[in-house]
Amino acid sequence: MGKRRTLKLGAVLHGVGGSASGWRHPDMPADASVNIGFYKQQALKAEEGKFDFIFIADGLYITEKSIPHFLNRFEPVTILSALGAVTSHIGLVGTLSTSYSEPFTVARQFASIDHISGGRAGWNVVTSPLEGSALNFGGKPHPSHPERYRIAEEYLEVTKGLWDSWEDDAFVRDKETGVFFDPAKMHRLNHKGEYFSVQGPLNIARSKQGQPVIFQAGSSDSGRNLAAKTADAVFTGPESIEEAKEFYRDVKQRIIRNGRNPEHTLIFPGIGPIIGRTEAEAEEKYRQIASLVTIEQALDYLGRFFEHHDFSQYELDAPFPDLGDFGSNSFRSTTDRIKRRAKEQQLTLREVALQAATPRTAFIGTPERVAGLVQQWFEEEAADGFIVGASDPNGLNDFVDLVVPILQERGLFRTEYEADTLRGNLGIPVPENRYTAARKAADSIVNS
Ligand SMILES: Cc1cc2nc3c(=O)[nH]c(=O)nc-3n(C[C@H](O)[C@H](O)[C@H](O)COP(=O)(O)O)c2cc1C
Repeated sequence: MGKRRTLKLGAVLHGVGGSASGWRHPDMPADASVNIGFYKQQALKAEEGKFDFIFIADGLYITEKSIPHFLNRFEPVTILSALGAVTSHIGLVGTLSTSYSEPFTVARQFASIDHISGGRAGWNVVTSPLEGSALNFGGKPHPSHPERYRIAEEYLEVTKGLWDSWEDDAFVRDKETGVFFDPAKMHRLNHKGEYFSVQGPLNIARSKQGQPVIFQAGSSDSGRNLAAKTADAVFTGPESIEEAKEFYRDVKQRIIRNGRNPEHTLIFPGIGPIIGRTEAEAEEKYRQIASLVTIEQALDYLGRFFEHHDFSQYELDAPFPDLGDFGSNSFRSTTDRIKRRAKEQQLTLREVALQAATPRTAFIGTPERVAGLVQQWFEEEAADGFIVGASDPNGLNDFVDLVVPILQERGLFRTEYEADTLRGNLGIPVPENRYTAARKAADSIVNS
């Protein structure tokens, strides 16, 4: 029997927030997305709550219609590097796109954060949904949805290979003899594939946790397959417990089919809890957030998922327009869901846009109610943990101060960190260096 599952928690730090109007909230610093003091305070709050990690999302293309946070925000690796220096236990997970970067550079960047933080780095692998991203990177056409995933798969093979360039005891650093490293423990990858040609070795060693933790955030069939083959953790955005359970079951089965241990890949739905000391206070908080959004902003917000499609051309109170295949080359899993739900529930464009811009989360109410939902989703295997992204500027503080103590009291969540690495706290193994493992296997054949 495996050991008892324990809940894991991450916190999305996203400045003024993921909505068009969050920056207008009286409690929100209007420059929060580029305010290092704000990020530091949030990271330390999450660490006070014994969260496993903080999480930085990202994107590579903006227009006048993008939400305020996207217009002016920190680059993930850079901000995580700064936050690594002011925290001591919490994991540092950053988003970086495999469609618009080079594996050698990215392997180095995350390995560096892993060293700076003493083994707390994680990389959220994304494939960049927006076609416009191509305009900022040399102008080659944006790869199609299936091709982006083929690139991502090879990219991860290369990155993980580069991370093993040095065996753990390769650096001898013997001042007496003048031996700095053991050449037998340095390895060139010599990768030549369809998309990448990378010799190696990487110019940085493995960290205390071996390799950074791989997160994956794509929920389509190709996204699920990539997660099953390569990820240690999956970020997903289900709208109901039923949808979350289906995703959980499906991804865990794919992991087993890939010959991997399903307990070593954790599934994290994103939630935006709204917490009040009473149900009425929570509802009032939601009303305040929703009232800050105009219908024009909601249409722009919805449009971004469909390549910044101009929804103002349609009748607001008519049924949601038939968009055919539109959106399937960008945020496919999200646009499929929007279209499906609009049809099933016969929603108008106005209803779809407002729901997209300020979704009314299921995780709303008193701390007891929110803790109860967290417990239910966890125990019914809809989630191994959650990534908490506050829809309300005080959401993270409320979650740490009011919900975490209940989860701790119920024995669901830690009261102290178990480890000082991200892998250690998530309970996932340190991958052994592939060359060390191969040598050990060869030795055991010779000796047997
Ligand atoms: C929960 C979730 C979070 C995501 N976060 C990001 C992000 O921060 N940056 C980004 O460029 N793409 C992000 N994506 C987009 C995915 O990487 C992917 O390109 C897109 O969802 C299309 O793939 P899919 O159809 O497999 O979901 C996210 C997707 C999901 C489902």
